[in-house]
Amino acid sequence: EASVGEVPLKLSYHIFETLPSTNQTVWKLMDQGAEPGTVAIALEQTAGRGQWGRQWQSSLGGLYLSLALAPNLPAINSALLTLCSAWGIATALRSHSIPVFIKWPNDLILWGRKLGGILTETRVQQGKITKAVVGVGINWTNPVPETGINLQSFFEQQPQQVITSLESLAAITLQGIFTGYQYASPKQIETLLPSYLELLTSKGRCVIVDGRSGVVVGVAPTGELRVRLYSGAAAEEICLQPGTISLGYE
Ligand code: BTN
Repeated sequence: EASVGEVPLKLSYHIFETLPSTNQTVWKLMDQGAEPGTVAIALEQTAGRGQWGRQWQSSLGGLYLSLALAPNLPAINSALLTLCSAWGIATALRSHSIPVFIKWPNDLILWGRKLGGILTETRVQQGKITKAVVGVGINWTNPVPETGINLQSFFEQQPQQVITSLESLAAITLQGIFTGYQYASPKQIETLLPSYLELLTSKGRCVIVDGRSGVVVGVAPTGELRVRLYSGAAAEEICLQPGTISLGYE
């Protein structure tokens, strides 16, 4: 039993060999009355979902996991769920000596390559998030594209393999989400932001927004990216929603 915020969350696991998408399965289970704390894990997915409607390659050997939550957060703060999950998972992996960074908003980066990603889906009623599914994919031994990395190739170059099974990777990942979730409120997030910024690969990066160059200066409490734009001597700070600009891997 995990404790999330003040509410103890009873976990119930549903493990599958193969299915279209663990996010989709958790929504289905919730529609059938499953409670927050429902977890679906699959050994492979045939229609893994990525951010921005992309597909997530989900062959055997990867971690594919989704968790049901009922966050009761204002919809305007929905980016916090991904932000806190990313922080929690990165921190959990770092405590196992894996130097994971975050590429805002949802990429887990190792040695400059994509190790995994997070897809949070929400249902909103009257401006509040009533239900959410946090889905995580982490490359374990599965083949990855050029810009990716899996933990197997990382450990091959380390003196010691500190995570030895997909099961323990799943447990570490879930624990990371719970740790992060405690901070998923407009008030709590303030305490997490300094440590989050340390993990951000894109901090200090130059970005181009509508033809103007700018620098990423941080993340707002809503989860939006704070960018300082320059034109001549004048600087202006703006906030960007996830998905509105694309940052390279770094
Ligand atoms: C990304 O695009 O970076 C997010 C990828 C999220 C993939 C995970 S795998 C488990 C869960 N089920 C899905 O269909 N997607 C997420």
